[in-house]
Amino acid sequence: SSISNSIANSSYSVNTRTRTRKMVKAVSLGDPLLAEDQDEAVVVPSDHLSQQALVPSLRDYLEMYKASIQDPGRFWSEIASQFHWERKWDPDHVFSHNLDVTKSQVHIQWFKGGITNISYNCLDRIVESGGGDKIALFWEANDPGSDASLTYKQLLSRVCQLSNYLKDIGVKKGDAVVVYLPMLMELPITMLACARIGAVHSVVFAGFSAESLAQRIIDCKPKLVITCNAVKRGSKIIHLKDIVDAALLLSAQTNVSVDRCLVFENEAAMKREPTKWQEGRDIWWQDVIPEYPTHCEVEWVDAEDPLFLLYTSGSTGKPKGVLHTTGGYMVYTAITFKYAFDYKPTDIYWCTADCGWITGHSYVTYGPLLNGASVVVFEGSPNYPDSGRCWDIVDKYKVTIFYTAPTLYVTRYSRKSLRILGSVGEPINPSAWRWFYNVVGDSRCPISDTWWQTETGGFMITPLPGAWPQKPGSATFPFFGVQPVIVDEKGVEIEGECSGYLCVKSSWPGAFRTLYGDHERYETTYFKPFPGYYFTGDGCRRDKDGYYWLTGRVDDVINVSGHRIGTAEVESALVSHPQCAEAAVVGVEHEVKGQAIYAFVTLVEGVPYTEDLRKSLILTVRKQIGAFAAPDKIHWAPGLPKTRSGKIMRRILRKIASRQLNELGDTSTLAEPNIVDQLIALADC
Ligand code: WTA
Repeated sequence: SSISNSIANSSYSVNTRTRTRKMVKAVSLGDPLLAEDQDEAVVVPSDHLSQQALVPSLRDYLEMYKASIQDPGRFWSEIASQFHWERKWDPDHVFSHNLDVTKSQVHIQWFKGGITNISYNCLDRIVESGGGDKIALFWEANDPGSDASLTYKQLLSRVCQLSNYLKDIGVKKGDAVVVYLPMLMELPITMLACARIGAVHSVVFAGFSAESLAQRIIDCKPKLVITCNAVKRGSKIIHLKDIVDAALLLSAQTNVSVDRCLVFENEAAMKREPTKWQEGRDIWWQDVIPEYPTHCEVEWVDAEDPLFLLYTSGSTGKPKGVLHTTGGYMVYTAITFKYAFDYKPTDIYWCTADCGWITGHSYVTYGPLLNGASVVVFEGSPNYPDSGRCWDIVDKYKVTIFYTAPTLYVTRYSRKSLRILGSVGEPINPSAWRWFYNVVGDSRCPISDTWWQTETGGFMITPLPGAWPQKPGSATFPFFGVQPVIVDEKGVEIEGECSGYLCVKSSWPGAFRTLYGDHERYETTYFKPFPGYYFTGDGCRRDKDGYYWLTGRVDDVINVSGHRIGTAEVESALVSHPQCAEAAVVGVEHEVKGQAIYAFVTLVEGVPYTEDLRKSLILTVRKQIGAFAAPDKIHWAPGLPKTRSGKIMRRILRKIASRQLNELGDTSTLAEPNIVDQLIALADC
């Protein structure tokens, strides 16, 4: 393949070059954000690191990679065999797929007919192989000084008790369970308990508002909702149960009623007494769960039975229920975790992500536990009580693998335990990369800059520590079995050095199988733009050595501190405000958050723009989506730049938002060209 040729032919000494930009013209998807000209200095792994690595050299990688592409059935069967299967899949049909929407319906299946259970593989399998007394979860509370831990054996017992309760109240295989919990140990426990009985968990990040939670409840109609009374975030107490109450009220208005709400009493945040209660529906976790037996038979499920739903933002309309199934997801998260972090049984692993996002699903819960790892689960925020908290935790638990978003901060404390660093969620620019490498990792620890998505289930393009030289800012090469391709606006694959739209050819076990209840949207969003390929929504550049450089979304999705937000969702929240007539939201570069939300709004005729109105617009977004989606800037607009056919010219708005006023391009096709000057004049009002 082109990668193997180009990387095999390149030399690994430190070299610096400058790159010329290549433009890709976009017709319907917007220009891919092009990477800045990069300094391509190479960071070579130390011999010591390479020698003890699972994949010690580029040659070893290429051999395995080639095998994974030439005979995926065989490659993945071998890996899948490391897990417990009650019955094996059909060896002649390890996988089947059709990605070409012009031929027939898109479908992806892996290990069909194989019978297994991911909760069994995370827990029972580890306990039975002698790992029962190893710590599975180290839990660190919001407030320093408060912590807890569970061994694999203890975790299994806790999971079984909850599974037994769920079965007892009639939750069955295939039923949805909505989980609205902060990062307590009860969150992974709940996920594993659902999986154990074949129920489909749908975790909603506990920073989402009642409206957003209701929207998800209405979509998947759960048997019950699991939450807690309150949570302490930094020094603030948030009453989660009130939010759930409001969400359940809203869903009842749409005729989706939920009979049961299981509430964990999070005493550290608040005692149970003041909690508003609906008798008959609400029940305290602590009053029932400990009474249940600590043993629970697993429900064996087909590899293609659903494991979970996770809602994520798209460029249009309501959030999409990304559906992952059991077998392929299990195999894929386990093996990507193992290789991308060069996992060793002695490692202590900490991923700062919340289980409300995909990173917490795949790399707090399933991937690490499937490897029998010890995982740090952190309830709080990285800068409480101060910005040293992260490194305090690293030192306290002697964390060896630290996986985080590139927007996290620094120095003091020894951090001597660190071995491997990981980064996810947004492109890490070369200077941030160097800081992470030099300062956090003392120039010792390789960085796994993992590129992937909610939809992909696990890592897609990622360094393997020790195997090859890294380039700061590049996610480097594809994981085993993954065939990234870069296409032009016509969907034609471009070879060699180029930039364009990132797609993936063929399927991999961790791929999502559908959007819940809307297979058509699945096809339209991901498989129609470039027939025959999965379209990622990201722009990408491949350099002459075959390294991949992610350049950001090319659709209307914004990435704020690694949180994925659809511009359409923010816009619809804004226009729901009675005084807002129209809104257009774009992302702008932000030093700390990666991207920030910038909203242009036009007001209902006669309404003056005031500071109070600005605040109330922002509040509307917080209420409807969540605080993390609040716009950083409201730009009052007398009108929006539109084409004669009424389409908003976002390209121009992006330039105004980032004050690149000499790059506005051709504005002559606008219905009212002078609107641009008015917007510029109002930019700092
Ligand atoms: C972005 C998070 C550059 C990308 C796992 C993708 C990244 C979106 C990286 C998915 C990375 C994630 N480098 N960009 N290492 N990792 N992204 O679904 O735009 O929340 O499409 O999954 O985050 O976000 P999601």
